[in-house]
Amino acid sequence: MDQPTQPMAELIALRSRNLAMSAIKEMSILSAKVPGAASLAWGLPSFRTPAPIRDAVARALETDPAIGMYALPGGLPELCAAAAQEHERRTGVRRDPEKHITITAGNMEGLNTLFHVIVDPGDEVIVTDPGFVSHISQIRFNGGKPVFWQMREERGWELDIENLVGLIGPRTKAIVLVTPSNPTGCIMSEATLRAVAEIARRNGLLIILDDPYSHFTYENSARFFNLATAAEYADHIAYLFTFSKAYAMSGWRVGYMVIPEALRTEIVKVHDLAMICTPRISQVAAMAALENEPTHLPEFETILGRRRALICERLDQLAHVFQYVRPEGAYYVFPRVIDTTESSTQFSHRLLQEARVTMTPGAAFGPSGEHHVRMAYCVEDDTINLAFDRMEAYFGK
Ligand SMILES: Cc1ncc(COP(=O)(O)O)c(C=O)c1O
Repeated sequence: MDQPTQPMAELIALRSRNLAMSAIKEMSILSAKVPGAASLAWGLPSFRTPAPIRDAVARALETDPAIGMYALPGGLPELCAAAAQEHERRTGVRRDPEKHITITAGNMEGLNTLFHVIVDPGDEVIVTDPGFVSHISQIRFNGGKPVFWQMREERGWELDIENLVGLIGPRTKAIVLVTPSNPTGCIMSEATLRAVAEIARRNGLLIILDDPYSHFTYENSARFFNLATAAEYADHIAYLFTFSKAYAMSGWRVGYMVIPEALRTEIVKVHDLAMICTPRISQVAAMAALENEPTHLPEFETILGRRRALICERLDQLAHVFQYVRPEGAYYVFPRVIDTTESSTQFSHRLLQEARVTMTPGAAFGPSGEHHVRMAYCVEDDTINLAFDRMEAYFGK
């Protein structure tokens, strides 16, 4: 058989070569190779997709002859209409399903599509530091430059609005926000969010609201503010909702995007290139999610609230190892590793190999994340307890 004249590796484009595997997935892959490891690395909720959604999909499989077929790229019209209705119910802002809504294969795909649409090589996108790992990589992969806006750990991870204006330059296109935050769990204040919106509008920037976690705000629900409710900024906001977390549908890969009209055709073109359409069966599942009363939500939140109390209690017992800001929402905590000269990557790898506990190194979330680790407490209580029992044995009480 002919040998290839050059190794395949030489074919790989620079942008792919320069792309690091997401640290969350990398740790999860390594963790899978360590038998019995207790993993807090991945924000994968332990819940099952609620029964009414599963039942609706089972019915559609039997009765809908089109269930296995492509759909038009923007999304099933009835789901776009239901998403617009849900958006209006949650924010009071009415958007036209045909002009403003697109059904995505989850926020990850939606964000990647959006960055394709707005980022030219050399353009800048402001992200919080720390912020979600994949935003940083997606911006870079699309030729852009993430510009880090530091959160203040000493002020409960609050953002410093005074510093924002200085980060905006002639190439700035957008600001990405996640509240409650992944990885810190902080809820951004209404005042901060409104100030960001005003600055964005004045500078002609797009505000990207990536929303997997707004249903998980615990006792802080009154403090949570969805900037998409501010109708005066609607033409400057891309709001992305995912069913992954609130409806325990992470494997279905479905979400919706509410975007300014000027972007929609572009978004649909690019979404088509990768997806053709969000899987029809997942769109049927999303439809069922929106049609049924979300009676599972209080239960999810109660369980996650209990796990938050548990992980904080266990962290308090390891106060000589970790110092942390109590998370207000989502299901992550982002403790600082005290007294370490090790990088967060070295620390996380050592912990996995020597204590069989998996977490994600903080450096992956931006420069301010160094010497921190992210722990996801959406896993079973037993996994949290096992991880901390092992860390107590490893570090000493
Ligand atoms: C901030 C943030 N954005 C996006 C995603 C991915 O969402 P999806 O499953 O909808 O792609 C996650 C998942 O953890 C996330 O934390």
